[in-house]
Amino acid sequence: MNSPFSLAKAYEKYFRIGAAVSHLNIDSYRDLLAQHFSSITPENELKYSSTEPEEGVFTFDDADKIFDTARSLGIKVRAHAPVWHNQTGEWMYLNGDKPAPPELIYERIDAHSRALCERYNEDVYAWDVVNEAARDDLSSEEEASASDVYRGSKYFRMTGTGFIEAAFRSMDKYSPNAQLFYNDYSECEPGKRERIVKLLKNLQQKGCRVDGFGMQQHYFFEPDYDELKRSIETYAGLGLRLHITELDISLMATINPGTKRLKPDDPGFEEYIKESLHPTPAKLAKISDIYVKLFDVYRSYSDVIDCVTTWGVADDYTWLDHFGGAPGMPHVKQYPLMFNADHTPKPCIEENIALAQRG
Ligand code: GLA
Repeated sequence: MNSPFSLAKAYEKYFRIGAAVSHLNIDSYRDLLAQHFSSITPENELKYSSTEPEEGVFTFDDADKIFDTARSLGIKVRAHAPVWHNQTGEWMYLNGDKPAPPELIYERIDAHSRALCERYNEDVYAWDVVNEAARDDLSSEEEASASDVYRGSKYFRMTGTGFIEAAFRSMDKYSPNAQLFYNDYSECEPGKRERIVKLLKNLQQKGCRVDGFGMQQHYFFEPDYDELKRSIETYAGLGLRLHITELDISLMATINPGTKRLKPDDPGFEEYIKESLHPTPAKLAKISDIYVKLFDVYRSYSDVIDCVTTWGVADDYTWLDHFGGAPGMPHVKQYPLMFNADHTPKPCIEENIALAQRG
């Protein structure tokens, strides 16, 4: 019997296949979504700046557009990242012209969670309740945070870990049937991993329902597959389900010999720009190969991984086209996804389907 050529169908027995979309591009991806995907994540449409730009003023048009389309395709939504230190209006932190006391911040998070859940619960199977609250190694903000675990965001400076707990408690109350996730990046880097584990354990000890951890998986260097396996085992060892939430592979991953993202002042950055302006077929093929190797690992942990989502659908639209450049440096077009800009599949699609069907 011939199986349909569909990544999502081939992976039904392993995990869902998801993609992040925006209200502006979802129509253009309708056919690809219908054929290859079984989960949809709104890229920005559920963040505070989109849904509550001013306190009590709810704007759902953009999110509605995504939910309507997802519903018409019969695809459930992985809802993403209301409580985050970015894309949140200043009103969250103010009480008139004074700083808001923690209780007011918790009340605001509660009212917001309620509004989102009342509108979208039926179509949401998982929430990224809190995004990126663990600190990185270095940044002036982090150095000032006086915490060796948490990012020194406004939320953290004003409430300690209270905002994280409040967010999970509210979501649990209003969305009892969806899985609740904490989501973060650089999650395979050993130092960051240790901080994320502490954050998750603290949350569990506080009695909050946290069902899973979202591993973002943005790659700016070639994956270290052993470190990836170690990370999956560590997070799953906390009794959590895992979702790969924001997978994509920058051209940097085909050039960068290190294990950290190259920044504009780092040695090698100019070389990276030069090589990326005219990526060779070998470099582009490497991105597709990395997808095959990553899926190999994900498949082997399908007992704990429930969803693999790419941060975008096809190379014609990717946030990476606007990220990480430097003033005066030329713009680098990126090719980080599993489908080409013309929506044709890269070789990894056929290979990953074949490997899933064989396994
Ligand atoms: C982070 C966030 C996402 C998105 C990306 C960049 O990873 O979690 O919501 O904003 O950055 O597009």
